Amino acid sequence: MGDTSRPQSYPRGMALEVEDVVARCRAALGEHTPALAVRDALDELISDPGALEAAIGPVELGGITPLHHAPDLTVLRVAWTPGMVLNPHEHRMWAVIGIYGGQEDNAFYRRAPEGLTSAGGRELPQGDVLVMGEDVIHSVANTKREFAVALHVYGGDFFDVERSEWDFDTYEEHPRDLERTRRLFEDANARWLADR
Ligand SMILES: [Fe+2]
Repeated sequence: MGDTSRPQSYPRGMALEVEDVVARCRAALGEHTPALAVRDALDELISDPGALEAAIGPVELGGITPLHHAPDLTVLRVAWTPGMVLNPHEHRMWAVIGIYGGQEDNAFYRRAPEGLTSAGGRELPQGDVLVMGEDVIHSVANTKREFAVALHVYGGDFFDVERSEWDFDTYEEHPRDLERTRRLFEDANARWLADR
């Protein structure tokens, strides 16, 4: 199924392109444990943030930039606006996040009778890669004064899967609402622009 017409890695001296990023992730799907193979690919890709920025473009504001989405794979560039917090949500597919600018703070949760219970957290500075299994529930925050910029790779179609999100204050469960997420980015961007 993968696009075999492109090399899996780009020759030294040639500029990295979005197609190369996608081809590397797609090649990882053929490995025994795709999420771990994607982790290795992201480890290498995020070691050169300048090449990624040249390929994908600079971050002007927070948001989700789809680089590829198919039934078996989604690749996004996600930029979290300073001060932004995204409420707890699940993906129902494995996910790998590689940070190439700023820092993403992740908090983890488990389902509980009252909705959710806290299950620790992890700060992801630039250069870190996080692998999440299918059943992980997390929230994300950018507490720094710079954009947190990352490649997010999912083992399925991120935009077309039924899953849940939870309110921060009540832990009430709702169907995942990507429109609500888009509004969170808009509000955070407006605050950031007004703040400068
Ligand atoms: Fe997520």
